[in-house]
Amino acid sequence: MTFKKIDVYTFIKPEISKLRHIGVENPNLDCRLLLTKTLEKRETLYNHQNINISQNEIKKFKNFIKQRLSGKPVSRIINRRSFWKKEFQLNEATLDPRSDSETLIETVIEHFPDKFQILKILDLGSGSGCLGLSLLGEFPCSEVSFFEKSKKSLEINKKNAQNFGLLDRSKYVNSDWEVRNWDKKLMIIENNMKFDIVISNPPYIPTDEIKTLKKEVKEHDPFIALNGGLDGLKAYKCILSKVRSIIKPDGKIFVEIGKGQEKLVTSIAKDHGLLAKEYVKDLSSITRVIMFLVK
Ligand SMILES: C[S@@+](CC[C@H](N)C(=O)[O-])C[C@H]1O[C@@H](n2cnc3c(N)ncnc32)[C@H](O)[C@@H]1O
Repeated sequence: MTFKKIDVYTFIKPEISKLRHIGVENPNLDCRLLLTKTLEKRETLYNHQNINISQNEIKKFKNFIKQRLSGKPVSRIINRRSFWKKEFQLNEATLDPRSDSETLIETVIEHFPDKFQILKILDLGSGSGCLGLSLLGEFPCSEVSFFEKSKKSLEINKKNAQNFGLLDRSKYVNSDWEVRNWDKKLMIIENNMKFDIVISNPPYIPTDEIKTLKKEVKEHDPFIALNGGLDGLKAYKCILSKVRSIIKPDGKIFVEIGKGQEKLVTSIAKDHGLLAKEYVKDLSSITRVIMFLVK
């Protein structure tokens, strides 16, 4: 096999221009991530690093660029996304984790300063496991139950847990919060041991708005992970109406919300005996997380 020895930047420069031309925000980083995946390197390549690349690898890289040019996000091409402190594997059933969701992790950490506390945590709608597994990484004595309707998401969640050495502190519940008595069924699985913390980043986009989202989102994130029903609030109604029966009296609930949903979600929670104690903004100054207490 013949290899070409070349500087990364010289190699990717023409592809950067093509991506820039169609309005891609970070064409240089995208090219380096795609080249890193092509060469199966562990560390993201730098611009001025020398590489050896074969004809087959060049073909593979060009194919990745073609996919990127057609609007596929890099995370979907390489099936990976970094979140909090880890690299998560994704599949077609999982939401591509968003950096805004790191606000939820920060908020939990602020409220639980003792990292060695034994906490029983529930992650409702866990997707790739990015939230619950990040918390397991921060709280080494805690356990997380991952609750998810999509079996395929749970599979990749488990794989991520295994890769991070967190499988022994994880539990997997394939269930649906739209099913009657989902809370009671969960308590049976949990031997009636209630949770200290419940976290959730549920689907919260009103159905009609999904078609107006960016192509990268509406065509590549699964509908089930986006669809919040007619008003965007369906999941909050299912979750918040039952959470009191699965959380300890002094437990804390942390939910991510969509832009402008704070009043409506607070009101749903209030109707079910929950008190909104804190509103937390994300890096774009949008209220992203609400922390509730049991009244
Ligand atoms: C917005 S995604 C969040 C995924 C992940 N927690 C994250 O932050 O990236 C919502 C998740 O809820 C799951 N989900 C949707 N409806 C559900 C239901 N009725 N019961 C359980 N999980 C559901 C979806 O499959 C999806 O993984």
